[in-house]
Amino acid sequence: MPNSATVDSLPSLVSPAVTPNLVTTDVPIKLGIMASGSGSNFEAVAQAIANQQLNAKIQVLIYNKPGIKAIARAERWGVPAVFLNHRDYPSREALDEQIVHTLRQYEVECVVMAGWMRLITQVLIEAFPNRIINIHPSLLPSFKGVQAVEQALSAGVKIAGCTVHLVTLEVDSGPILVQAAVPVLADDTAESLHARIQVQEHRILPQAIALLQS
Ligand code: GRF
Repeated sequence: MPNSATVDSLPSLVSPAVTPNLVTTDVPIKLGIMASGSGSNFEAVAQAIANQQLNAKIQVLIYNKPGIKAIARAERWGVPAVFLNHRDYPSREALDEQIVHTLRQYEVECVVMAGWMRLITQVLIEAFPNRIINIHPSLLPSFKGVQAVEQALSAGVKIAGCTVHLVTLEVDSGPILVQAAVPVLADDTAESLHARIQVQEHRILPQAIALLQS
C-alpha cells in the first residue's frame, strides 16, 4: 500500500487536463496575487511564467500578514509586494476599496486569491467581474471554508483534491474552472495530505489562469 513517502508518484486526475503549454494568446495577462501565507502557489505561477508555459505577468503581490514567506518569494521574482493590514480598515468594504485601488494602480486585469484568508466583499467582486479566481484545498462543493483538509480527513473520504473557481460573494462557491483529485492514504495526516494536494494546486492554478485568458 502506498504511504506518504511516495508523495509525488501517485496517480492523480486533473480536469480539464493540464497541457504542457498553456499559452493561448500573444498578450500576457496582468495578474495581481493576494496571499496570507507561504505563497507556494504564487511561486508556482511565477515558475510557470518563467518556463514560458503561461503567458502572464505578476504585477503585484498583496498580503495582509507581516513576515509571511510569500514576501521573500515576491522579492526573489522581482514582484512588488504591498502590505494591506486589515486591522487598519474600519470594515471589510474599506479594505477591499484599498485592494481595488492597489490592483488598479498596478494595472491588474485578473486577480488570483492564493491562500488569501479574508472574506471579500461586493466591492472587490464588482471591480473585477468574472476576473477573480480562488484556489481551495478540496473538491468543491465539499468541505468549504477553513480547515478543508482536516474536514476531508474527518469525513473519511478516499479521494481529496483541490479546486480553482471564480469568486462570488458566497465563500468557495463560484463556478468551477479546474479540479485535481488526490487519493487519501491510510496513514495520512492533514499535513501529509495537504502537501500532496499542494503538488496538484501548483499544476491547476496556472491552468486556470490560462483558461481565463482563452
Ligand atoms: C492552499 O492550500 C490554498 O488552497 C489555500 O491556502 C493554501 C495557500 O498555500 N486557499 P500557499 O500560501 O500558496 O502555499
